[in-house]
Amino acid sequence: MVVAVLLGSVRSDRMGGRAAKWAIAQLERRGHEAVLVDAAELKLPMLDKMWKELKKDTSDEYKDLRVKLAPLAELYERVDGFCIVSAEYNHSIPPAMTNLIDYFLEEYFFRPSAIICYSTTPFGGVRAAMQLRALLAEAGMPSIPSLQPIPAVDKSLSHDGKALTQELAENTGKFFDEFDWYMRAMKAERQKGVPY
Ligand SMILES: Cc1cc2nc3c(=O)[nH]c(=O)nc-3n(C[C@H](O)[C@H](O)[C@H](O)COP(=O)(O)O)c2cc1C
Repeated sequence: MVVAVLLGSVRSDRMGGRAAKWAIAQLERRGHEAVLVDAAELKLPMLDKMWKELKKDTSDEYKDLRVKLAPLAELYERVDGFCIVSAEYNHSIPPAMTNLIDYFLEEYFFRPSAIICYSTTPFGGVRAAMQLRALLAEAGMPSIPSLQPIPAVDKSLSHDGKALTQELAENTGKFFDEFDWYMRAMKAERQKGVPY
């Protein structure tokens, strides 16, 4: 399976890189191709036009943005699932994550998402995850039932994304097994056809 791993935190001192590295390692261990989509690298402006508008635009004004977004559109059309690696800001979704997601819509349809949420507190970002569920369902990539919270991310993961707790090293199988199942099931149904 091919998985886009969306990272939506853009702070220079962010912890999100650790969580994304960990997520990619877990997916690759299961034989998936995991491709990082990093809001900090992309430096997308606050949404003006969505990709569906930009791809028809021929003006110089949006040329750079079209060049940035075209490979993402191609990636999203070939992926089988989206892994959403998200922090929690003020009990909510970090704005760069919402902005990253909002650029696209149809490209997400009929694919599952799986939420890996994290924070430096014991709550592990689960309040942002609850809000992400609503956003992801509306965007056409409903989230799988299980969540993968990472509490105290600064102590749970090393800089290079290695698990430092027994919980993360040993007890994440159910989450990734479930994601695999939903990706396989939805891929099989997509191949038979989609309703629109
Ligand atoms: C603007 C802001 C709001 C935050 N709000 C919360 C919060 O509501 N709950 C929480 O557990 N941690 C909160 N934190 C702490 C984050 O969990 C911590 O900074 C984490 O490293 C953020 O992810 P990032 O480093 O990838 O940006 C907040 C951090 C920032 C910068």
